[in-house]
Parts: sequence; C-alpha cells; structure tokens
Amino acid sequence: MMQTNLIPSVDPNPLPAPYWLIKTLLIVTFVLHIVAMNFLLGGGVVALLTRWRVKDRAAGARMFFDMAKKMPVLLPATITLGIAPLLFVQVLYGQFFYTSSILMAWPWFLVLVLLTVAYYGFYYVSFQSGKDLGRAGAVMLFSVVLVFLIGFMFTNNITLSETPSRWAAKYFASAGGWHLNLSEPTLFPRYLHFFVAAIAVGGLFMVFMALARWKRDRAYAGQLLQFGGKTFMYATMVQYVVGIVFLVTLPAPMRMLFMGGDPVATTLLLVGFTGGLAAIFLMSDALHKENIRQAAIYVPAIIGVVIACMSTMRAILRDAYLKPYFHPGQFAVKTQWAVLPLFLVLFLGGVALWFVMLKRYGFFGGGKTAGPAADS
Ligand code: HEM
Repeated sequence: MMQTNLIPSVDPNPLPAPYWLIKTLLIVTFVLHIVAMNFLLGGGVVALLTRWRVKDRAAGARMFFDMAKKMPVLLPATITLGIAPLLFVQVLYGQFFYTSSILMAWPWFLVLVLLTVAYYGFYYVSFQSGKDLGRAGAVMLFSVVLVFLIGFMFTNNITLSETPSRWAAKYFASAGGWHLNLSEPTLFPRYLHFFVAAIAVGGLFMVFMALARWKRDRAYAGQLLQFGGKTFMYATMVQYVVGIVFLVTLPAPMRMLFMGGDPVATTLLLVGFTGGLAAIFLMSDALHKENIRQAAIYVPAIIGVVIACMSTMRAILRDAYLKPYFHPGQFAVKTQWAVLPLFLVLFLGGVALWFVMLKRYGFFGGGKTAGPAADS
C-alpha cells in the first residue's frame, strides 16, 4: 500500500518504559494541558462576553480586568503542560506526528509566532487599569483569536497524523509544507467540540474566582458565580449538539466503537454524556440556591471525570484510525528501571508542586497574591 510506504519506520530505540505506562502518561498529561488551555481560551472568551452580557457596566468591567490579569499566567501554564504530552506523543506516534507536522510545516511553525504575539497582547491587557476598556477589549479579542487559531492548528495536525491515506495526495500536490487538513470531515466538529468545552470550563474558572472572594466580597462574588455558572451551563448544552455532530461525522467503524462496538469506549461515552447532564442540573440548582460549594467543587469534580473520559475516548479513536498502520507490539521495550522510579516520583512531585502554586496563587480561595483572590 502506498501510504504504508510513506510512513517512516518505527524508531529502533526501545521504549524506556512499558507501552501502557507511556500511553497512560500521555492521556494524563493531555488532560492537564487541555484544562489549562480551557482556562486560557475559555477564560478569554468569558472575559469578552462580560463586555456584552453583563448589564451592570462597572461590574462587567471589573470581571473583565480580573479575568484579564490571569491570562499572562495561564498562557505559560498551557505551554508548559503541553510539553509533556508532546514528548509522549512523539515517543509513541512520532512516525505519524512528524510526517503531518512536515506536511503542514509553515502553519505549524506559525504557532510559535502566534503564541508570542498573543502573549504580548495578554500582558498589555493585564497592565491596563480599566480606563480604556475599548482598547483593552480589542487587544483581548485579538489575542483570543490567535489562541483559537493555535488550537485549530493542533486539530489539523492531530487529524492529519491519524489519516496517512491523505498524505500522498497532499505531498505530491505541493511539497512546500503549506497544507492544512481542511477536507477532513471531522475537522470542524472536532475543533468546535474543544472550543465549546473551553468556554464551559472558562465559565467554571469564573466560578472559582467567585469562590475565592465569597467571604470577602459577597455581592461581587455572587455576580461572578451567576455569570460563570450560566456560561458553563449554556456552553455545555450547546456541547450536546456539537458532540452529536462530531459523532455523526466520524467514519462508521469509529462511530460504532462508541455505540456498542467497544464496551470500554461505549461506557466512557455514556459516563461523559450523563456526567455532562448531571453537571448542568447541579449548576442550575447551585445558581438558584447561591450554593458556592456545589458550583465550585461538585460540578468541577464531575467535569473532571467527563474530561478524563473524553480524553481516553480520544486515545481510543486515534488507535482506531491508526489500526492498519500502528501496532504497539512493534516497539522494542527496554524499561530503564534505574531512572523510571525517579521519573515517576518527580512527575508526581511536579503535579503536587502545581497544586501548591495554585494554592499560593489563590486558586482555591484565600490567597494573597495576584491570583483569583486578588481584587483588580
Ligand atoms: C496556547 C495555545 C494552545 C491551544 C489553544 C492548544 C489546544 C490544543 C487542542 C485543541 C488540542 C487537541 C487537538 C485535537 O485532538 O484535535 C491540543 C493537543 C495538543 N497540544 Fe495543545 N494547545 C496550545 C498550545 C500547546 C503547546 C505550546 C504545546 C506544546 C508545547 C501543546 C501540546 C499539545 C500536544 C502534544 C497535543 C496532542 C496530544 C495528543 O495527541 O495526545 N499545545 N492542543
């Protein structure tokens, strides 16, 4: 088969750890990356929405700038937490991921430029005092659009890496590295699925900001809770439409995996589906009763499970796409017992350190630094 010949041969270096462990770490670190990305992209969108949707203009401006101050922290968090899955994806799927990256070399390279420009924009807005809301809003919109485009590049690259059958036509049409994967039917529903999820989680981020201020500034915290909670609910409702469209656009054999064909994939979809519904109802109830614990602890806990299910489904989907070309048995494995335990200890220590940093930052309430607890 022509596409099989186009796939670079597997790296002869043995895997330094068992396949299942690297795969698990890929999924776990992807979850961390995507949550940070959701806070960033979704938080940016939610900040912009406050400009149009919050009737109390002074409160809307305060919400906007409070969110804007988080952006310069969330962008590097997204990048740092993206590096880990980048390493694992290269170890397991390098043959596919490198080829797709070469086919879309220039747009892929552009990601770095877009990141840098978006970073400047976020810094600019975070330093504004609130006098020139119009300009701050425009710069925020500009940076959010750049981040949106970066995510779109990722979906192009991942979908292209999973469909080697498309490579030859693209490469022989032009070897200039300017390809995207726009003819892929799942591209837009898949990216929309990520984008709408980001808005929902951005709404939850605002609910965390409410939690951090709940005791000190109840009136404002109540406004944050209502706006963030409603954004979460509406975006999650929209997700049911987008998710179903995504499922329908999948090739039939992949779709059937989630509809009874594969018990694990089907169970994950069911848990994700019911988890989303439960989160909507719990949030609605929490908003009605102004119950901040329910909104900021139970709902995010359920959504954490949903994100873990969806990320595992995404991994199952990738393996289904690559089934004709990718077999875990092809890897030689030589577990490096001398460094693996050290790596795992450092990894867990690194995750714990993130929690300490988030706590210091005021993420869980009570912080004294420039985090969600700090007033603008
Ligand atoms: C800041 C803007 C970013 C956004 C909005 C973003 C968004 C996304 C999205 C939407 C996906 C899923 C694509 C899909 O499956 O269709 C993704 C995957 C991924 N991102 Fe990011 N990303 C950003 C930055 C980064 C950076 C800077 C890195 C690396 C340092 C990174 C590493 C990854 C990796 C490795 C994956 C794929 C993991 C896998 O295939 O399992 N991301 N990102």
